[in-house]
Amino acid sequence: MQNEASPLYIVGIAGSLRKASYNRALLAAARQRAPTGVQIEIHTLDPIPLYNQDIENQGIPTAVQKLRDAIYAADAVLLVTPEYNSGIPGVLKNTLDWLSRPPKPHPFDGRPVGIMGTTPGGFGTRAAQYQLRQVLVPLNAYVMAQPMMLVPGAGDKFDEEQTLTDEKTLAFLDRYLTSFSAWTRHFPA
Ligand SMILES: Cc1cc2nc3c(=O)[nH]c(=O)nc-3n(C[C@H](O)[C@H](O)[C@H](O)COP(=O)(O)O)c2cc1C
Repeated sequence: MQNEASPLYIVGIAGSLRKASYNRALLAAARQRAPTGVQIEIHTLDPIPLYNQDIENQGIPTAVQKLRDAIYAADAVLLVTPEYNSGIPGVLKNTLDWLSRPPKPHPFDGRPVGIMGTTPGGFGTRAAQYQLRQVLVPLNAYVMAQPMMLVPGAGDKFDEEQTLTDEKTLAFLDRYLTSFSAWTRHFPA
């Protein structure tokens, strides 16, 4: 249990490679609006190669190792997932597969994790978020149960420069980040 004012360092990952990704934009908004004392450092999945045990046998790729190290050093991880076919995108699953590999402990082992997601559709990535929770079980990540940050109708909530402008969503994002920070502080530093 940490002090309610302890500084927090959170690694933020969005599961989209798209430049104009709504989920990258949502993560950028989260970084910008992080509560005082909370730093969200964004890591992109662009340099993560496709998982291949032959590559792994030659050594962990530098990009994977960097992400592992960042998560080891973090108090928590914030995953922002798009929804593809009612599940999580391959790039995110691929990254989690890399991060589940030896040496132990996995960087997610015992790590607090928050999940958010946005989609132009009406359900706000609910299906993808439930699938992501399932994938995080074998990694022994501690996923915050509530609140869930589901953002439907992305097309109306971000402007042309991918800035989150919807007031209600911004207010909920603030509440989400406050809850996630307080919940993360229940864990040892
Ligand atoms: C292969 C594929 C499958 C998709 N399946 C879903 C889906 O099941 N549910 C949904 O709400 N949106 C679905 N979408 C639409 C995505 O939510 C939309 O493309 C979104 O903008 C992707 O996230 P991003 O903007 O962060 O890249 C799908 C898109 C693709 C490319």
